[in-house]
Amino acid sequence: MRILAIESSCDETAASVVEDGRVILSSVIHSQVAEHQQYGGVVPEIASRRHTENICDVVEKALSDASMKLEDVDAIAVTYAPGLIGALLVGVNYAKGLAMAANKPLIPVHHIRGHIAANYLTHPELKPPFLCLVASGGHSHIIWVEDYTKFKVIGRTRDDAAGEAFDKAARTMGFPYPGGIYLDSAAQQGKRGTYTLPKPKVNGSDYDFSFSGLKTAVINIVHNAKQKGQEISVNDLAADFQGTVADILTGHLMQAAKDYNAKTIVVAGGVSANSGLRSALEKACKKQGCELYLPKLSLCGDNAAMIGSQAYYEYLAGTRAGMDLNGVASIPVDVNYQN
Ligand code: KG4
Ligand code: ZN
Repeated sequence: MRILAIESSCDETAASVVEDGRVILSSVIHSQVAEHQQYGGVVPEIASRRHTENICDVVEKALSDASMKLEDVDAIAVTYAPGLIGALLVGVNYAKGLAMAANKPLIPVHHIRGHIAANYLTHPELKPPFLCLVASGGHSHIIWVEDYTKFKVIGRTRDDAAGEAFDKAARTMGFPYPGGIYLDSAAQQGKRGTYTLPKPKVNGSDYDFSFSGLKTAVINIVHNAKQKGQEISVNDLAADFQGTVADILTGHLMQAAKDYNAKTIVVAGGVSANSGLRSALEKACKKQGCELYLPKLSLCGDNAAMIGSQAYYEYLAGTRAGMDLNGVASIPVDVNYQN
């Protein structure tokens, strides 16, 4: 089964054709990051306008790269939640138009489920159940993935998402938006142990995260140094920050793995590209006898192939949307779409 998938939840306009949830026939991503960079973050209205301008070309290229025409695909899939509402609506409406014109089934996909499915594209043998860490710009979750369309959130952030914390810390250190990747490169040049950063615990849950205190600690270190006219080693501060975030994410995930007796660990979302997190997880999984699955770097960030992958399993589970499909800014990953 070949699914044409569309993703427009944030600042990437993307389309892809995916076969049977596992094989990418084409994947096109138009990133708006250069434009948003000058404002230090995504400007929602600009994002919606650029999606509107680019979506036709992106979808056309996805079809032609797969040597297909619209009538050759078996279904249309689209990210309907969560994300910037104006941005989501562009993809949702475009997908509805295609589904209606070509008389194809329309499959609504939750963005976070898509991030998890990036691993099905990377690892053909991977199947649920498994324990999954999702760390993106908007979400930090520990999720028990019981089946392809059955999820249970067992840990979440109480404040900032991991990617958000990376971006805010990076901004304080002088890096452009989105700073996670720049902070990662700096951390690889630095060494840990120069700066003392807190590892906040959350009352009442071993699995929940809190990153805002850590972010504030970085801001204080930078501002205090500035006031005293002292130099900061950006590389060392980046290494300490990245190492601390990696320790927190890894520590909570491995605790959950112990408690849930999980031997298969999966990581998803933009922050799964982080070199410090990847190596901390590799070490921890080896020590605890767990199999670790990471998405390939090209599939860590937002793309439509991951939506096409998850859409296949949603289709098999009977998920369909009608012409009344709407975008939803926020909805938990464990809530199934209701027509
Ligand atoms: O999953 P994603 O592409 O978009 C959302 O759904 O939010 O995640 C984007 C986030 C940004 O905060 C970005 O800075 C972060 O992922 N990110 C990284 C790295 N690459 C992307 N954070 C740390 N290290 C990286 N190498
Ligand atoms: Zn995302």
